[in-house]
Amino acid sequence: MFQMSTMALRSNLFLSPLAGYTNLPFRLVIREVGGVDLCTTDLVNARSLIERNPKALKLIETNDADRPLAVQLFGAVPEEMRDAALQLEALGISAIDINMGCPVRKVVKTGGGSAMMTELDKTHALVRGMVDALKIPVTAKMRLGWDDQNLTAPDLARTLVDAGIAAIFVHGRTRAQGFEGTVNLEGIRKVVEAVPSLSVVGNGDVTTAEAAKHMFEVTGCAGVSIGRGAFYNPWIFKHTQHFMDTGELLPEPTFDERIRVLRRHYDLMVEVFGENRGSVMFRKVAPWYAKRFGPAKPFNKAVVQISTREDFDTVLADYLDWREKFTDTEGQLLPQYQLPPMVASFMQEPETAVEKRKTIPVPKGPVEVW
Ligand SMILES: Cc1cc2nc3c(=O)[nH]c(=O)nc-3n(C[C@H](O)[C@H](O)[C@H](O)COP(=O)(O)O)c2cc1C
Repeated sequence: MFQMSTMALRSNLFLSPLAGYTNLPFRLVIREVGGVDLCTTDLVNARSLIERNPKALKLIETNDADRPLAVQLFGAVPEEMRDAALQLEALGISAIDINMGCPVRKVVKTGGGSAMMTELDKTHALVRGMVDALKIPVTAKMRLGWDDQNLTAPDLARTLVDAGIAAIFVHGRTRAQGFEGTVNLEGIRKVVEAVPSLSVVGNGDVTTAEAAKHMFEVTGCAGVSIGRGAFYNPWIFKHTQHFMDTGELLPEPTFDERIRVLRRHYDLMVEVFGENRGSVMFRKVAPWYAKRFGPAKPFNKAVVQISTREDFDTVLADYLDWREKFTDTEGQLLPQYQLPPMVASFMQEPETAVEKRKTIPVPKGPVEVW
């Protein structure tokens, strides 16, 4: 369904790296819900991996159910990038993704992240060194360029093809844009056209199955990668695959299904990070689920204070009781509390949509902009 050099994937839908979020529990949740095949870790500093820094090792924690997995590396020293990738290959990681899009100063000033988009010769040499040393595919994730005056992604893509890259992931914004404005589908299309022999995966603001289809059609991309949309909606991959295969839009998951997956996500957080740390980390995860719950103020206020499983259970039980006043006898939200459908920023608003939101919120995290 999606060919990435020697690797055949069962889905052309991908989970984008979201530092602080795309950890093992989230990836397992996404995989269990279905529709996705290759998932990617948060970005990991190549040097920290070589030095066996415990934090870096935690970022690459995985298990047999978490396959196929790509680890995203950042760094600008070719030998370090190669050696870190070799270590990952030896551990059974399926692919290496190179971060060429991160605009954060700390990363850019070392020559990594989006700085790589501006230095094509150096980038070529770094990628070539990795491709030559590895058996597993090497991919790259980039933005459209540094700013509107420097939309270098098509040139960079051609350079990367020459260096032996297996696929590229393009977020349809420039570094200067941060997360502002709408995603530039035309910009992604130019990258697709620049490298006809390569699989290009489009990315940015896809929050619905229709938006994913629109991105495929308008850009001609071979795959679509989804980040924040998967947080609102871990079902997005399954629903998109179904929509692409059959033309039928599946209804949004029920509230009960959302709660089932929320609980599963919490259990996995505790399993992987321990009860206290897992609970504390879940404080920033739960409000994403709650965005589609309907009225949820007391839940959002209480869940950001949990430290134990007992806290989590109490907060959820209290919320389920409280929410009953907004539902009918079947448990459905009364019409005045129902949420308008989600609309991707680059899609026309349907007439029924009351929601006027133009952007997906960027969650608080270790970074200001990506
Ligand atoms: C909190 C956060 C963390 C991110 N971390 C990474 C990262 O580690 N590596 C990367 O290449 N992109 C990172 N990104 C960018 C996303 O992978 C993606 O390109 C961007 O969010 C647009 O896609 P989306 O609208 O589907 O989220 C991050 C974005 C956000 C909001």
